Amino acid sequence: MTEDYTRVAAADELEPGNGMGVVVDGIEVALFNVDGEFHAMSNRCPHQRAPLCKVGEKKINGEKCWNENRGGFTDQPAVTCPWHLWEIGLETGEHEASGKKIGVFDVKVEDGDVLVAI
Ligand code: FES
Repeated sequence: MTEDYTRVAAADELEPGNGMGVVVDGIEVALFNVDGEFHAMSNRCPHQRAPLCKVGEKKINGEKCWNENRGGFTDQPAVTCPWHLWEIGLETGEHEASGKKIGVFDVKVEDGDVLVAI
């Protein structure tokens, strides 16, 4: 239901292969565009709370941070934390090796807007 979702960005603000940070109801959310499919999760890595939205930036290991084939995830896209390269599944919010998880949120695009449900 639309009323459960909050508009966080225009879809064309976030290019494929990039992430951005937004705040919804006081919660830091990392928004990612994976080949045109949007994903949202907590913006804080389950290891030492690095801001996961920074994966698309060239600084801090940026070139290593997007991955489709690195690590153990074969069933879902993943991002790699810019600080110590933990890989986090975008659909489950899980880091497989440690079993630690962060929250993931429903995302949809309507009329060119990206909406996130917290
Ligand atoms: S803070 Fe993310 S891997 Fe260490």
